Amino acid sequence: MTNQENRTASNHWRSTFGFIAAAAGSAVGLGNIWKFPYITGQNGGGTFVLFYLLCIVFLGFPIMVAEVMVGKISQSSPVRAYSRLSNQSRLWQVVGSIGVITGFVILSYYSVVAGWTLHYLFLSITKGFPQGSQPEAYADLFTSLYQSVRLNIWWHTVFMGITTVIVLRGVRGGIERVAEWGMIALFGLLVGLAIYSSTLPGFPTSLEFVFGQSAKFTWSSALEALGHAFFSLSLGMGAMLTYGSYLQRRDNIVTTCTAIAIADTTVAIGACLILFPITFSVGLEPAAGPGLVFINIPLALLQLPFGQIWLLVFFLLLSLAALTSAISLLEVPTAFLIDSLGWSRSMAASCCAALIYLLGFPSAVSGGEGFWGEGLKQILGMTWFDTVDYLASNWLLPLGGIGISLFVGWRLTYQQRKQELGSLPWLYSILVFLIRWLIPVAIVLVMLHALGVL
Ligand code: TRP
Repeated sequence: MTNQENRTASNHWRSTFGFIAAAAGSAVGLGNIWKFPYITGQNGGGTFVLFYLLCIVFLGFPIMVAEVMVGKISQSSPVRAYSRLSNQSRLWQVVGSIGVITGFVILSYYSVVAGWTLHYLFLSITKGFPQGSQPEAYADLFTSLYQSVRLNIWWHTVFMGITTVIVLRGVRGGIERVAEWGMIALFGLLVGLAIYSSTLPGFPTSLEFVFGQSAKFTWSSALEALGHAFFSLSLGMGAMLTYGSYLQRRDNIVTTCTAIAIADTTVAIGACLILFPITFSVGLEPAAGPGLVFINIPLALLQLPFGQIWLLVFFLLLSLAALTSAISLLEVPTAFLIDSLGWSRSMAASCCAALIYLLGFPSAVSGGEGFWGEGLKQILGMTWFDTVDYLASNWLLPLGGIGISLFVGWRLTYQQRKQELGSLPWLYSILVFLIRWLIPVAIVLVMLHALGVL
């Protein structure tokens, strides 16, 4: 059986825009709106943002092209794709399997944060927010959610349940439509909020903070920016590879990836330009940590006319963005079991989801007093939640990125690359140079610096 025969029409995206929407739906998520602004705040702003943007252009974009390419040529999920294109090499299968495991780890804590957005969506419906404009009241609201074992487990359960139901039904078709509408609505809302934020007194200070120089930047900030470029674009664990495997021959990889990377970056920078003006206007700390979006957005929106409705729309779209990302995370191990071990979709999706659900428990109780929260903080300096986030984003994803770039740069043939990278010789040369040399060397250098070896 040839590669193309394996996949029938129903195994492909309905349209190129459908692929862009689904892949952008995977990329745009909590990483952009929840995580990017808060780590920018913690790392002092400007220089961190600049380094992040350089990582997106010179590392993230070429790796996205490389991942989608391996998916499209092999028409298979990660482990099988590596195996097919490398004459069943064991080494490359191991590289693919690490990606599958990374997906497990990321979704386990991603679902907990997505649960927080569901809780806030619930509060917007039931009008459960504090009255008035005291930042402390909103900060207390977030802290009590963060520390509550019961609420975290409940919303983690609900979110994993919804994600599983969608993946059980197959991501193609359904996900395409949800992502198309969700993405357009999210963009519209963000533009509206950015216009509102630009009228706030803290706007000039926040421009200076996001685009100016910062003194706080260290090598571990560099590693964090690099890791987050991977996290935000959904790279380094085979999600883009899997989505790329549902592409058809005629689809152009370079143009679609450009659109996805631009959409993702616009939302991340846009989220900063919405959140920081609020932060500076009410005198909050930019380095407030994971609560930033959950404290600032309700605080600001409830001051507006129809604030309750704005808030509801915001958390609805944020939950949707989290859902389209989570679906891509669950799809990778599911597609692996279907493709490599011949499992049925329902078996594969429910077993993966059950394992990820259990793995998420320690993260769900990380805000509490127990072992996984305060206990580990005493020992490691970080809660379980922070530890898995740190290991997955800063180490596992960039390592997966080295794997995919070495594979495409050195293992694929000239013809395979040439066919997918199009007819522009200069573009081909630049991309192949980045994929072969710059990316692996740059990632290793940043890692060694962050470890203090260099
Ligand atoms: N990119 C998503 C976000 O920014 C998260 C995500 C989805 C992801 N799929 C991924 C991260 C694959 C790494 C790998 O929220």
